[in-house]
Amino acid sequence: MSNEVRNQITIVDNGNGDEPQVSYTDNRPFASVLEARLARRSLLKGSAGAAALGFMSLGLAGCLSSSDSSDDEVGGGDGDNGGEAGPLIGFTAVAPSESDEIVVPPGYSYQVILPWGTPITGTMPAFDITNTGEEQGMQMGSHHDGMHFFPIEGEEPFEGSSDEGLLVMNHEYVEPRFMHLDHIGEKLSSSAVIMRGENSDIRDRDQALKEMNAHGVSVVHVQKRSDNRWEHVQSHYNRRVTGLTHMELAGPVRGSDLARTKYSPNGTRTRGTLNNCAMGVTPWNTYMAAEENWAGYFGNADATIPREHARYGIRATDTRYRWALAEGGEDQFIRFDATSKGASALEDYRNEPNCFGWMVEIDPFEPDSKPVKRTSLGRFGHEGVVFGPAVEGQPVVCYSGDDSTNEFIYKFVSEQPFQKGVTDGSILDTGTLYVGRFNDDGSGDWLPLVHGQNGLTAPEFADQADVLVNTRLAAGIVGGTPMDRPEWGAVDPNNGDVYFTLTNNSGRSEANGANPRTQNRHGHIVRWAEADGNHASTTFAWDIFLFGGDAGQSGVDNLKGKGPDGETLTADNLLSSPDGLWIDKDSRVWIQTDIGEGSQNSGVFEVFGNNAMLCADPKTGEMRRFLTGPVGQEITGVITTPDQKTMFINVQHPGATTTPEEWGAGQRYVRSSWPDRNPVRVPPRSATVVIWKDDGGVIGS
Ligand code: FEO
Ligand code: CA
Ligand code: CA
Ligand code: CA
Repeated sequence: MSNEVRNQITIVDNGNGDEPQVSYTDNRPFASVLEARLARRSLLKGSAGAAALGFMSLGLAGCLSSSDSSDDEVGGGDGDNGGEAGPLIGFTAVAPSESDEIVVPPGYSYQVILPWGTPITGTMPAFDITNTGEEQGMQMGSHHDGMHFFPIEGEEPFEGSSDEGLLVMNHEYVEPRFMHLDHIGEKLSSSAVIMRGENSDIRDRDQALKEMNAHGVSVVHVQKRSDNRWEHVQSHYNRRVTGLTHMELAGPVRGSDLARTKYSPNGTRTRGTLNNCAMGVTPWNTYMAAEENWAGYFGNADATIPREHARYGIRATDTRYRWALAEGGEDQFIRFDATSKGASALEDYRNEPNCFGWMVEIDPFEPDSKPVKRTSLGRFGHEGVVFGPAVEGQPVVCYSGDDSTNEFIYKFVSEQPFQKGVTDGSILDTGTLYVGRFNDDGSGDWLPLVHGQNGLTAPEFADQADVLVNTRLAAGIVGGTPMDRPEWGAVDPNNGDVYFTLTNNSGRSEANGANPRTQNRHGHIVRWAEADGNHASTTFAWDIFLFGGDAGQSGVDNLKGKGPDGETLTADNLLSSPDGLWIDKDSRVWIQTDIGEGSQNSGVFEVFGNNAMLCADPKTGEMRRFLTGPVGQEITGVITTPDQKTMFINVQHPGATTTPEEWGAGQRYVRSSWPDRNPVRVPPRSATVVIWKDDGGVIGS
């Protein structure tokens, strides 16, 4: 089995240095091959294809959500807005930009807070490029990503104070060249690992520790000042969760043979969370950090590697940061080598990779609480998780995408009903994980990943823990639809529609209905409504909300972008590679882009400029660019305060487009000096941006 799986895996260097892709070549059963052929045929019915999909997208909310009267409470400009205020989107679009700065619409202002290295806890060590690994553990991590503002009352995730709260955010990864002093003259790329010297296979211990401590999650107590600006305060809530923090495993994989390690012989605990991309917010007011591209951090040099490593792209050597090679051979480092060394799994770290790939629950209001990996939600490249609205007495439902080419979208439905004030994270430990099948006729099915059903039987799968550790494999067996890199999901609070970004998949050779473009360089957004408006339903109806793409300059018809109104995108709203996604209380759809650092501002991507954030009205189909970011970055993470008058977004990896040649020539910060503008001493730093409307109004209005 394992060699068979290994032969189907290719690690693809597609220029997305920050998100290395594992490409799985599926041996799909004949039925799905037939489906794909039908998909091609329907696409060929005319170049009406794209327009027809646009038309379909207009129909969805009306057709499928009409039973929900709250649908009409949104000021959507469709002539039926119940006398509510005017158009949803009231700002002037900003143009694509290649400048090394933030641009917001006229009438808006912004402030940069909490850049990487800002001291927040412990002895509050000031930022300096010479900070030690231990100091990094008391400072903001690097590469800010998914984020939530928890009002300080600590009761409701979206209600309460708009002036004070806990800002909680992920730190996805690090760029070693920006973290460690000098290395001048070496031609370092954004993903280069710094070894002790040329031809050395030793990593400096403190550099490895610093990188590990720059990963994870930050919890920061923040307050609004009288001038709309925000500041962070010293607080017992301030906390760093890192690649070293002790955590519990919960759900079916807790105690499984597949989770036993030298560190946790009974398979109940692990250390750290890594590559935390997007996040989720539970109805009981906790934060969930996703583990996305964790597989690259581990190596396994065994001649035959198990499917739970192979299917996720774990390599033999040459791991992402080579932490296992840190000088001194401490346990916290060597665990990244999953090669079988001892007589059993209790004497080595062959199972350590099985402790990653989960959603991790953190209670920001309990600074001493242990984070918990909720294994019922499956093991894959979790981009994030989004919960459907919690309804008293009904199951809790959440959705999560696996961001890798041709991977799947999942849904979890709890066994127990939601009970406000009683329910906690343990409700996620029992329930059913489903994978989405998007049929070409616009219908969809949720297929359960339950041991003993749908071919997930012994001896291939020993038990439910085995199914969950091998979620990708199980999802393929039951017939999930391979998607174009599922990123963030969002649920429209006014009608329950679920949206997911599919960022791109330039390697797609075979289309299917929900992923209709081969060589999908610019991505799209899929949307669905659950049957009967019930998030626990096992069927749904989907359409495509928009296609990323240029305004036609590429000359390739199927790469032209189409907006939510079915019209070709214009200079005001063209976009590529949608990633971050959030829908606010009024149903504004906020879309953030992540064109890979190897593609930005060149070739067919030039027209898009730097990565940006756009805002769409799903009822009118209007969409405008709201913000553009500095050079080399992606915009990711978005939330407002409950009053919608302050928005927080993150800028991740500014300057990542700096070439190895520029670096080697001593022009280390030539591409970006954002935000410090001190290119002699301070590298470009990921940071949070606070945005407000000068007239004190709702962001986007
Ligand atoms: Fe880390 Fe899929 O973006
Ligand atoms: Ca990215
Ligand atoms: Ca992302
Ligand atoms: Ca991305």
